[in-house]
Amino acid sequence: MSSPWHLTRRFVGSLWPFGPSTGDTLWAHEHLLAGERTLWDRMSAPDRRHSHGVARRVDQLLDQPSREVIAAALLHDVGKLESGLGTFRRVAATLSAAVAGRETAELWVRSSGVTRRIGLYLTHPAIGGDMLEMADADPLTSAWAREHHLPEEQWTVPVEIGRALRDADDD
Ligand SMILES: [Fe+2]
Ligand SMILES: [Fe+2]
Repeated sequence: MSSPWHLTRRFVGSLWPFGPSTGDTLWAHEHLLAGERTLWDRMSAPDRRHSHGVARRVDQLLDQPSREVIAAALLHDVGKLESGLGTFRRVAATLSAAVAGRETAELWVRSSGVTRRIGLYLTHPAIGGDMLEMADADPLTSAWAREHHLPEEQWTVPVEIGRALRDADDD
């Protein structure tokens, strides 16, 4: 999911508590359907800032990307909402997964307390995909939330779009 270098950079960035500017927030909203916008507004300030940066980079990498592609960049990590984990526990979760393995993380979801929250955090792609489907997001947007940590052979999202979304994501 994350290399130690990416994790460190994301960790430092997460300590900056502010979201994107008003102008950047308006730009993001213009690319989101009503249900998608409600979910994006619920994301933490650092997560909105991160996702806005990813979306702007996708906008530069692709020639006039469609609205649903920008929405996919804005919402790829929306599943992290359900875990309610702050920065320090996210780092602990990522390190725990490195030691225990992903399959174990899926078992943690059926546990309780902090262990369950860590499990939810580590399974955020599937959770985000479900949340977006329930919010009537575009199918490409929900598919990318589900697939953004998978190898490209397993994508249903068109490869050239998936590559731009992946390459624009700095975590
Ligand atoms: Fe993710
Ligand atoms: Fe990301």
